[in-house]
Amino acid sequence: MHNLSDIVSLYEERFDTHPLLVRACGRINIIGEHTDYNNGFVLPAAVNKHIYFAIGENGTAESHLFAADIGESYSFNIHEIEPCDKLWANYLMGIMQQLQERGVTLEGVDCVFGGNLPIGSGLSSSAALECGFALGLDTLFCLDVGRVELAQLAQRSSHKFVGIPCGIMDQFASLLGREGQAIKLDCRSLEYEYIPLDLGDCELALINTKVHHELASSEYPVRVRECREGVAVIQKHHSGVESLRDITLDMLEAHRSELSEVIYRRCAYVIRENARLEEAAVCLAEGNMERLGELLLLTHEGLRDEYGVSCPELDFLVDFARGFPGVLGARLMGGGFGGCTINLIRLEAREKFLKDITKAYYRQFGIHPEYYFIRPVDGTKVVREEE
Ligand code: GLA
Repeated sequence: MHNLSDIVSLYEERFDTHPLLVRACGRINIIGEHTDYNNGFVLPAAVNKHIYFAIGENGTAESHLFAADIGESYSFNIHEIEPCDKLWANYLMGIMQQLQERGVTLEGVDCVFGGNLPIGSGLSSSAALECGFALGLDTLFCLDVGRVELAQLAQRSSHKFVGIPCGIMDQFASLLGREGQAIKLDCRSLEYEYIPLDLGDCELALINTKVHHELASSEYPVRVRECREGVAVIQKHHSGVESLRDITLDMLEAHRSELSEVIYRRCAYVIRENARLEEAAVCLAEGNMERLGELLLLTHEGLRDEYGVSCPELDFLVDFARGFPGVLGARLMGGGFGGCTINLIRLEAREKFLKDITKAYYRQFGIHPEYYFIRPVDGTKVVREEE
């Protein structure tokens, strides 16, 4: 765990120049899980869990990276970028490679980064890595790429360089988040609107299972494929269909016999989740926290039973939260198979809930879960050291 001034000191110990500073954000997602790569809607926000970057150009073809939180370094020639066995370095190198592929001329950089954004917790530390570095390079080299395009470039880098077929939600939220607001993003058109995250006498708390099952990375591409498989079946009957976004539950039912039970359930989940998101946006506008909480619980059931991306630790936390006085809803957040649950709780219930759930989880799994109170903040940005 490092703060901004630690990162500046670490940079200055290693390198001569005065660095540019970037504060990259993690993200939460209120609802709309596994909908982004299906051209659907998501409702994320950038939050106050950060990775700080100190970065400066060095006038050579070599880049030197230092990951302060884990004490690892990596150096590479910017004209010979190849994936290596350090995942974190791949996230950064992929950005440089994609920028060069876009035709811009870069130089080598020196970069130190670290922060307080928990890794593997469903808050998308990987998108924060990509987006912080991308914005840093964009600023250092006056590239003026623009935030939406930077988000797309970061997603492309995940696909092509890191090899993860993710949607655009995480990068978009990290770069375009705004204080006090969630982003309702249409992942097909990339049109978006800000929705005030005004929760009345409630707040959002994240509870970290502290587990991250291997399945998270292996099953994600499987889900992407399963959804495509469902779309291909429906396309045979409806030529205008491009993604699950264009498919209704009625269409799915009409061709259910042509789908395996698993593919049917995956597709039904995504279609229902888009509908839940629309309703959740109305709940936020009307301040209907009770219904919003119910929708979170329904999403969790869908992710567990239809989409098959939960795990015992997440289910335990959600089951414990369900029905706890003052807790309106909870669900797993992000890709699944570990990481955090997001909980909608009344302020007055906070203390007892967190105390009881922490104890119960420890008793069950022998792990002390962490919890975080998060605030929607302005997305990834260049900062000064005083900030
Ligand atoms: C991961 C991916 C996102 C999204 C979520 C699930 O965070 O990076 O694109 O698909 O899982 O909603």
